Amino acid sequence: MKILSIETSCDETAVSIVLANGGVESPSFEILGNALFSQIDIHKEFGGVYPMVAKREHAKKLTPLLEKVLLDSKMLKIEETDYPDKLWNDIEFILKKEEGLYLNFKNKFEKIKKPEIDFIAVTSGPGLAPALWVGISFALALGKLWEIPVIPTNHMEGHIASVLIENNDERKIIFPALALLISGGHTELVNINNWGEYKIVGSTRDDAVGEAFDKAARMLGLPYPGGVEISKLAEYARTKNLSKIAKLPRPMIHSGNLDFSFSGLKTAVLYYMRDNWKNENNEIISTDDEKADLAREFEDSVIEILLKKTEQAIVQYCIKTLIIGGGVIANKKIRENFGLLEAKYEGLLVKIPAKSLSTDNSMMIAAAAYLNAYLNPAILKGQQEIEAKGNLKLGILNLH
Ligand code: KG4
Ligand code: ZN
Repeated sequence: MKILSIETSCDETAVSIVLANGGVESPSFEILGNALFSQIDIHKEFGGVYPMVAKREHAKKLTPLLEKVLLDSKMLKIEETDYPDKLWNDIEFILKKEEGLYLNFKNKFEKIKKPEIDFIAVTSGPGLAPALWVGISFALALGKLWEIPVIPTNHMEGHIASVLIENNDERKIIFPALALLISGGHTELVNINNWGEYKIVGSTRDDAVGEAFDKAARMLGLPYPGGVEISKLAEYARTKNLSKIAKLPRPMIHSGNLDFSFSGLKTAVLYYMRDNWKNENNEIISTDDEKADLAREFEDSVIEILLKKTEQAIVQYCIKTLIIGGGVIANKKIRENFGLLEAKYEGLLVKIPAKSLSTDNSMMIAAAAYLNAYLNPAILKGQQEIEAKGNLKLGILNLH
């Protein structure tokens, strides 16, 4: 099946065309075209993502990104089309909330032949509602124009499915599986009995782990998004073999349940800086080495907590495959530590996505949508009403 997938849940505008085969038994995905525009440089100025800014940038980028993807996948055929006015009116109605998008869309797609695509997958949640809506409206407009079904897709299911894509690791997932999802908005342990059967067995009570990385980085004066900056500093501390001075807590590590809490860790960073780095004029002053030492301690604390809870869940649910997804698994040290679990638990398979598939992308949305379409072909019949659901949760999808 050829899938066009669209992701706009946060600050990356992403479009891909993916060839999917093998069903749920042995899914395989070939990327025919992929384009991603990161808004990071725009949001850096504000130190975080403003939903209305994200929405505006998505609306600007979707049409050119799709054109590029069609070209890369050799599906871009220029042809004067003859769509009726009524159809354009309907599309204008679908795109009415998305500033400037309709004119862009009409100018481009009235000259492009319908590509051979089986369905369109679009992220419907969780994420920033205004940002999600742009992607959904764009997908519905394309679905209308080309008469192709549109499937709403859960972003977190996408992070889970990211391990199935073009990975050198061909080993098949064996159930029960456990997913550790670590991103900017989520920290969750998900028990997976089969594709489409998700049960959240642990989650954060406050900040997500990526959010804690970003907030700690901000305190240290590092640019947004801070996860990657902290990990660079921490790596510097390790390669230079700096002495370990800073001490931070490991919140909830002994709580006995599978929940997390990262807001205390972030506050502990603030207190550490205040108590150890303040000079007599009340200014927070530190050397680069002191910053690197604190970044390493922060990363070590996160790793210990994530490992402890994940290992507890592996034992508790007799897990055969551990899947890790979400932007934070782009972190080198976290990847290394989780990779070691295979040797520690006999028979355990650990699946980690390629680094480029760890952070937000649209290929993972195609993969998740393919599994759902395969398990429940009825969703490909007829146009669905799709709404942005900022707080969409993973659950049992009743697909079997
Ligand atoms: O999955 P993602 O791209 O977007 C969400 O769905 O939230 O995750 C983004 C998060 C950000 O908080 C970012 O700081 C974090 O992933 N991140 C990292 C690294 N690269 C990205 N955190 C730690 N180390 C990294 N190398
Ligand atoms: Zn994400």
